[in-house]
Amino acid sequence: MNAFGAGLVAEACQTVGARLVHLSTADVFAGDAEEPYDEADRVTPRSAYGRTKVLGEQAVLGSGAEAFVVRTGWLYGQGGDNVVKALTRMAAAGEVVPAADDQVGTPTWTVHLARALVGLAVSNAAPGIWHCTAVGEASPFVFARAVFAELGLDPARVEPTASSDRASRGLRPAYAVLSTVKWRGAGLPELPHWRDSLHEAFETLGEELSD
Ligand SMILES: NC(=O)c1ccc[n+]([C@@H]2O[C@H](COP(=O)([O-])OP(=O)(O)OC[C@H]3O[C@@H](n4cnc5c(N)ncnc54)[C@H](OP(=O)(O)O)[C@@H]3O)[C@@H](O)[C@H]2O)c1
Repeated sequence: MNAFGAGLVAEACQTVGARLVHLSTADVFAGDAEEPYDEADRVTPRSAYGRTKVLGEQAVLGSGAEAFVVRTGWLYGQGGDNVVKALTRMAAAGEVVPAADDQVGTPTWTVHLARALVGLAVSNAAPGIWHCTAVGEASPFVFARAVFAELGLDPARVEPTASSDRASRGLRPAYAVLSTVKWRGAGLPELPHWRDSLHEAFETLGEELSD
């Protein structure tokens, strides 16, 4: 799906002359950098997910379609399950909630990402690879404490812990922050800071975000 499926979608777009916005991920990188990854950095995926997403990027970019490959990460939104809903469930199930403090990324609200993707699609920006996330960075621990504060729960109930097995085996990038310098340089509107987005998400969706 990630590789061959993405290529099929791109071929179809090429056939009918449609622009394609294809989503990719910070998991195309190993996560051992110390500053945000930019679009030109070499991809070094460590997981099957990351490897198949790289193959998908290559299939899309090689299809001849007018395609934007947009790498993002740590999404949360109203539909499906998400980290906010998981934290809400954990908060109801126990007094203390563990969250990793040895990974870093940028939590990004899907509503803000969706608006940005539409803006990119109708812009004069050149097709190719683009990084798009909210501003700032956080560990799951910092993000979980911010979610607890928004839920009106005591943030001190979130305790720092080491990454899960999957993350600690290097399958998830420890450092998953993407540079948005290219995005801003092209005059595309910057997304808000992740803390402001989280607050706006709760203001907008209230309990729908955590139900
Ligand atoms: N979540 C993140 O933090 C994140 C970060 C960076 C990039 N992305 C990218 O964003 C995209 C969506 O991710 P997501 O987290 O929203 O995933 P998701 O919640 O698992 O949603 C995946 C979507 O793909 C559909 N799908 C899965 N397998 C399919 C198949 N075999 N045939 C047709 N449709 C299929 C699902 O359909 P059903 O709803 O019918 O099951 C669902 O609508 C992916 O390309 C992912 O790599 C996500």
